Amino acid sequence: MDTAVPLATDPRPAVDWLDVCAVDDVPLQGARVIRRPRGADVALFRSAAGGVFALLDRCPHKGGPLSQGIVYGERVACPLHNWSIGLVDGQAAAPDVGCARPFAVRVADGRVWMDAAELRAAD
Ligand code: FES
Repeated sequence: MDTAVPLATDPRPAVDWLDVCAVDDVPLQGARVIRRPRGADVALFRSAAGGVFALLDRCPHKGGPLSQGIVYGERVACPLHNWSIGLVDGQAAAPDVGCARPFAVRVADGRVWMDAAELRAAD
């Protein structure tokens, strides 16, 4: 008896995308807070160019609420001490060092979708 063995398998589990809001619910050059049942809040940002990004709503410096910062380009300036955090990767701009955790996000049909497992996680 022959057994078909796949040449490669994708070890990543399929993403369970959760519809969190309309794109228009996130203000241009602003943010909206997504509350998680167990973990810290997530800040959903929208750049002037219309890109949507998601970071843990905690500055890597001293925990400032990034959702209350000023969005410029693909960065946000923390409202507490003005660190500049990249919206794509959460990295602080040099000479500062640190990272706000990025979350998976996708946009389709005018809606914002996030990874349900990341939103349900406690970390
Ligand atoms: S807490 Fe964000 S720059 Fe200090």
